[in-house]
Amino acid sequence: TTIYVSRDAAALAADADLVACSIAAQAGAAGVPVRILRNGSRGLLWLETLVEVQTPAGRIAYGPVQPQDVRSLFEAGLLQGGEHPLRLGPVEELPAFKRQQRLTFARCGLNDPLAPVPWQGLKAALAMPGTDIVQQVLDSGLRGRGGAAFPAGIKWRTVAQAASDTKYVVCNADEGDSGTFADRMLMEGDPYLLIEGMAIAALAVGASLGFIYIRSEYPHAVRTFTAAVQAAREAGVLGKSMLGSGITFDIAVRVGGGSYVCGEETAMLESLEGKRGIVRAKPPLPALSGLFGQPTVINNVLTFAAVPTILEHGAAFYRDFGAGRSRGTLPFQLAGNVKRGGLFELPFGLSLRELVFDIGGGTASGRPVKAIQVGGPLGAYVPQSHWDLPLDYDAYSAQGLVLGHGGVVVHDDSVDMAQMARFAMEFCAAESCGKCTPCRIGSTRGVEVIDRIVRNHNRPQQVRLLRDLCDTMLAGSLCAMGGMTPYPVLSALDHYPRDFGLLGDDEQ
Ligand code: NAI
Ligand code: SF4
Repeated sequence: TTIYVSRDAAALAADADLVACSIAAQAGAAGVPVRILRNGSRGLLWLETLVEVQTPAGRIAYGPVQPQDVRSLFEAGLLQGGEHPLRLGPVEELPAFKRQQRLTFARCGLNDPLAPVPWQGLKAALAMPGTDIVQQVLDSGLRGRGGAAFPAGIKWRTVAQAASDTKYVVCNADEGDSGTFADRMLMEGDPYLLIEGMAIAALAVGASLGFIYIRSEYPHAVRTFTAAVQAAREAGVLGKSMLGSGITFDIAVRVGGGSYVCGEETAMLESLEGKRGIVRAKPPLPALSGLFGQPTVINNVLTFAAVPTILEHGAAFYRDFGAGRSRGTLPFQLAGNVKRGGLFELPFGLSLRELVFDIGGGTASGRPVKAIQVGGPLGAYVPQSHWDLPLDYDAYSAQGLVLGHGGVVVHDDSVDMAQMARFAMEFCAAESCGKCTPCRIGSTRGVEVIDRIVRNHNRPQQVRLLRDLCDTMLAGSLCAMGGMTPYPVLSALDHYPRDFGLLGDDEQ
């Protein structure tokens, strides 16, 4: 009997290793042979450690399993899919899973992350000229999943058309946004899909070397991805002759040093070149002059990982999902004070209310939801009046909101929004690369001003000062770090004025 126990970092944090050991011990004591297969995560993180058993009637899940539950699971006939209070049935039938459209995460959590895969998207790409690959990506409508939503096909075309003998493919896996973990889950659960996407990008633009920049806080992802690169070399995908085509492409893994701003693409390039992670002015665009001054495709993990599906099933297949100009799916990540947190891959267009309440089940504390931050620490708090907006890039930006990398963090009514605004400024002060004044100095002044507002030290004048400061940061910062920190600050101030000691409140 095969028993699946996730090896994803989120499952390990929920004692998955101990659960696996207990299962082995129970099976040994009972004298029944079992094969414990360590898969990636299914993304249903509130159910970790999720245990699945292959039975004649299909794969039956149990969760959340703790080590001390294993004995009673065996007594209940775990190996036959027996009844037990933790029995969930097939994962595919769980409501939070069933309504998903898994394209990028279709394989994640099904198997051993390093089990062989068919490389169908790459095979399709190898059968066409680079210009056709770029056209497929253009036609699919795929936009950058790191947060900025720039059309991937246009970026690839720019690199493909740049005149240079040396070009690079760089994957940004410095996933620093609060509440996000999709990049990590993919690298741990289906690393070949990312390798495949990077290889297709290399074919499209004519690059023979790729780099991946993984944040140091992701040791399991670093390990699994590095092992996958080695296995892909042995399988003849990476290295001298990609699937026998004679085309050379290899990937080097680099690990970050714990800086948020190194997720900004030009700071990341500096870091990859062995220098301090300071933001470069644009232009020149990295597409024309990127790593070591060469034309470089830089995309987020999820952007590359969307590409094999597009090449395998065609641009139209991918484009048919989504809303407005946001095509395809986004792996939304629900975190914070939420009952059912996890990764839910859905086409763009559902509402935040559906995501947080129907799928997420509201707060874990059972208290009312007070604030929802979408798009990481630089994203705005979405006011209740906008919870029914379709989650798509343009509908959000029209309201001064951002979808970012798809991270959603929920707070209940015990949150103090003035402190959240203060935290945004404090975070910016800690993570600023220091290159430009509005961010370097403005963030520190921002903390002080918010403190004075809270202490009612000349409050009306300090509120004006805060707005003025945010204006300067928005307009005068060189990158999104300083340029977007005002989003959470101003949305907190505008929608939760009572937390700042101001009268009038449309949210409380
Ligand atoms: P951006 O709008 O400057 O650029 C987006 C991308 O398009 C870049 O790769 C840029 O080089 C490229 N580009 C722009 N014009 C181009 C052209 N004409 N031809 C070819 N390529 C072109 O945005 P930026 O500063 O790169 O990213 C900001 C976003 O990053 C924010 O919206 C935020 O949501 C997100 N972010 C994501 C984080 C994460 O952990 N994933 C962390 C922090 C921020
Ligand atoms: Fe550096 Fe901040 Fe300026 Fe970005 S906005 S370049 S992080 S100082």
